[in-house]
Amino acid sequence: MTDKILVLDFGGQYNQLIARRIREQQVYAEIKAYNKITVEEIIETGYKGVIFTGGPNSVYDSASPHYNPEILKAGIPLLGICYGAQLMAYMSDGEVKSAENSSEYGKTVVYAKNSKLFGNIPQQSVCWMSHTDFISKTPANFDIIAVTDKCPCAAMADEGRKLYAVQFHPEVTHTEYGRQLLHNFLFEICGCTASWKMDSFAESSVEHYKEKLKDKKVLMALSGGVDSSVAAFLLHRAIGHNLTCVFVDHGLLRKDEADLVEKTFKEKFDMNLIRVNAEERFLSSLKRITEPEQKRKIIGEEFIRVFEEESAKLGKIHVLAQGTIYPDVIESGLGSSAVIKSHHNVGGLPDIIAFDEIVEPLRDLFKDEVRRLGTQLGMPAELIWRQPFPGPGLAVRVIGEITREKLDILRIADEIFRQEIDATEYRKIASQYFAVLTDMHSVGVKGDDRTYGYVMALRSVSTDDFMTAEWTKLPSELLEKVSSRITNEIPQVARVVYDITSKPPATVEWE
Ligand code: XMP
Repeated sequence: MTDKILVLDFGGQYNQLIARRIREQQVYAEIKAYNKITVEEIIETGYKGVIFTGGPNSVYDSASPHYNPEILKAGIPLLGICYGAQLMAYMSDGEVKSAENSSEYGKTVVYAKNSKLFGNIPQQSVCWMSHTDFISKTPANFDIIAVTDKCPCAAMADEGRKLYAVQFHPEVTHTEYGRQLLHNFLFEICGCTASWKMDSFAESSVEHYKEKLKDKKVLMALSGGVDSSVAAFLLHRAIGHNLTCVFVDHGLLRKDEADLVEKTFKEKFDMNLIRVNAEERFLSSLKRITEPEQKRKIIGEEFIRVFEEESAKLGKIHVLAQGTIYPDVIESGLGSSAVIKSHHNVGGLPDIIAFDEIVEPLRDLFKDEVRRLGTQLGMPAELIWRQPFPGPGLAVRVIGEITREKLDILRIADEIFRQEIDATEYRKIASQYFAVLTDMHSVGVKGDDRTYGYVMALRSVSTDDFMTAEWTKLPSELLEKVSSRITNEIPQVARVVYDITSKPPATVEWE
């Protein structure tokens, strides 16, 4: 059995990074909200170690997340990070204090003593701090194993019980030896073996679903994007023609996209595919809606209703499959971090749906892992490397009310932008690029005439995992060409702007 680490989520924004860093060392990591798993379940599952994550709270706040102290006696190695470190101190008999003049933010020099956790790490190195509270008194049996100039306990350990805590964040790249520290925890302290690889994940997932879905009919929500395509491939491998993919053309797709998806899945891969043309239905329920979260919820709801209807036509299918991936779950606030956006395939689900079971085979994976899984499953590269496209489609790229006219304008601009980037080497640097139709009008001049038309925005980001992203530094000649083509070829557009905001603070999509 593959060794597993549990990342117990107390609501910090870096939590998904911890799981990534562990998986990069070929140990499988699972994230669970602190209130969704008990100590008994942790013991029963056989985790080799548990990590308490950071979180936005102070341990003394009445509303702050706490955990059953029995976990400290369970004999499982623990590592507390930031809030998780303070919580460990608080759960024993230590003390945590809050002092503005002790707060540290950013790169900080840490001085470490000999300990298993700091093995092969220099005595002095740079770590990433982000805290106001600090451990002011270490619990009995714990030794201080690192300090900084301001923080009297930057790390502590009860080596006998394999309990460790660090005030800083080993998961962020600014912590010079963060990778080594996690390596020490995984291999020297928890005794894990590096055996988690994508090929074993692919194989065991196919086996798992073969067994779990034996003789069941499954309806797959296929958008044609990377995630749902990989999920469809995996399930098709497991259950063959018991899988029916339903592809909803909601009228919010890019130019020619619906035809392309239909052709690829039907002709190339011999999958059961039903295409539903539902443009009318989606556009009429989106009429006069301008608020982004409301758009997302309406689209999510309509999707499910369409699936239900299709399933009824097929003679009742009990299982619905979706290509939800891990960042969708996190950003929809299903862990314990704040809701950023309701991704339509998660947060937008209505409460009552006519399926008995929902299957999400990629729920624990990050985007790059999904792509590796696709490669492992033998999917063609052009499908795997397609740019991500949001479930709500162009609805979140037309700001304000959605109309067919606006969608048509956007589709042309989007195609121009994508064509021009695709013709250059920048297609390899930019991870996702698209146009956004703002709801702003602006004055322009064409020939001798005054014009008053839309402001079109261009967005291009470069990123590995879409959790953070940088705006792509496209050359001005390229931008100039795109701008000139858009204003020439689309009379309704008066002005083109380029979005130079990274994520955070912006998100990739405008809504
Ligand atoms: P944001 O805008 O959240 O986007 O920074 C991160 C990545 O997710 C895509 N995205 C979505 N994907 N359903 C999806 O399947 C959605 O509702 C959704 N919203 C955003 C976005 O295109 C980017 O790649």
